[in-house]
Amino acid sequence: MRPRGIVLLIAAGALMLAADSQLSERGKQEEQHSCIQCHSLRLVNSQRLSRAAWGKEVDKMIGWGAPVRDRQLLLDYLSEEYPDSKPVPKPELTGDGAAARSKH
Ligand code: HEC
Repeated sequence: MRPRGIVLLIAAGALMLAADSQLSERGKQEEQHSCIQCHSLRLVNSQRLSRAAWGKEVDKMIGWGAPVRDRQLLLDYLSEEYPDSKPVPKPELTGDGAAARSKH
């Protein structure tokens, strides 16, 4: 491959990375805006769901009154960050083995 191709590839990669971290930043903001009135984000972020399942979950929460501004963004964020292909996080335990109270 000629040098120019490589430069283009690197530029494209950098752009994709930038878009990706922007999604996660804006998605997080949307999540914080929409999803903390009734329960902690731990309940949300400990889930590992397929995109379809996230869609149902978000719609259920909207039906219950979640003030979602950008459903598409939130759905992209949730299914990117918490897909069913990632392992479920272990619950945090306190010294005596009881589940720690949510810090969020
Ligand atoms: C109007 C209050 C309210 C808001 C706002 C809300 N939720 Fe919930 N959510 C609940 C309640 C109540 C439960 C527990 C329901 C149950 O026990 O099945 C819950 C449970 C959940 C669960 C656990 C699985 C389940 O269905 O029980 C997830 C995941 C979830 N919410 C995601 C979200 C997301 C994502 C948002 C933001 C879009 C959100 N919630 C905003 C009320 C809310």
